Amino acid sequence: MKKLTTHTIRKMKQKGEKITMLTAYDYPTAKIMDENNVDMILVGDSLGMVILGYEDTTKVTVDDIVHHTRAVTRAAKRAMVVADMPFLSYHLGVETSVKNAGRLMQEGNAGAIKLEGGSEVVDSVRAIVNAGIPVMGHLGLTPQSIKTMGGYFIQGKKVDEAEKMLEEANLLQEAGAFSLVLECVPSELAEYVSNNIDIPVIGIGSGNQCDGQVLVFHDFTGYNTGFIPKFVKKYGNVGEEIKKCVTGYIDEVKNGTFPSEEYSFFSKDLADLNKEDGEKNDHN
Ligand code: KIV
Repeated sequence: MKKLTTHTIRKMKQKGEKITMLTAYDYPTAKIMDENNVDMILVGDSLGMVILGYEDTTKVTVDDIVHHTRAVTRAAKRAMVVADMPFLSYHLGVETSVKNAGRLMQEGNAGAIKLEGGSEVVDSVRAIVNAGIPVMGHLGLTPQSIKTMGGYFIQGKKVDEAEKMLEEANLLQEAGAFSLVLECVPSELAEYVSNNIDIPVIGIGSGNQCDGQVLVFHDFTGYNTGFIPKFVKKYGNVGEEIKKCVTGYIDEVKNGTFPSEEYSFFSKDLADLNKEDGEKNDHN
């Protein structure tokens, strides 16, 4: 099976073929996605919230991302795996940025890394790309800056903000980014950016005129017990299925119906082991 590369992803935009991306954090989930031909799998720092139970993504470490990326890349035979650079892993100088990006590639086996921000991270983007590591940018709502943004709000609603976002997208492209996530911006702006840069734009909460789409696994499968944003379509109800399994198991263990004979092992030699003396067969 041929692995998708930055070249394939860019070609898809040129051919007008939509790019699919989903987040995954473990082997079995990534295997299902890969076997069903998702184009890219993102080991997002959203794992801080949906897997590790933090309030936001700022507690996630490079070690966390490496650990989960290793599991995902073991499963991904076709999909390109993109690993997120977590909070503060690319803000302490370009050397640290390259070193941390290198860990995601060497230890996690990622195919590319993603980082959030525009002009303020362009030097890091350039240095990481120069080290031979493909970079995906991320503009619009950037969850690592949630404390300075003051909340999860739609970004770029005004014309001057929209122009600024296109400028930032161009800066990332010039620095060598091979694609860009655009999160929670008005559809008009996402269309404008997608039509005015060469690299593929992957939207989340940004309408359907982007070159591709990404969603978080726990959101679109109904496995998220917390807040679900308006832009998420639920394609199933995994949380309800798990609840059914858990309550079914508890009921059957409590009432003694699990495990039944079907789920147990027996030995002829031990057939009398639990019988009273009078009930035992004389085998001699
Ligand atoms: O961490 C993540 O899952 C992301 C997506 C929301 C794009 O960055």
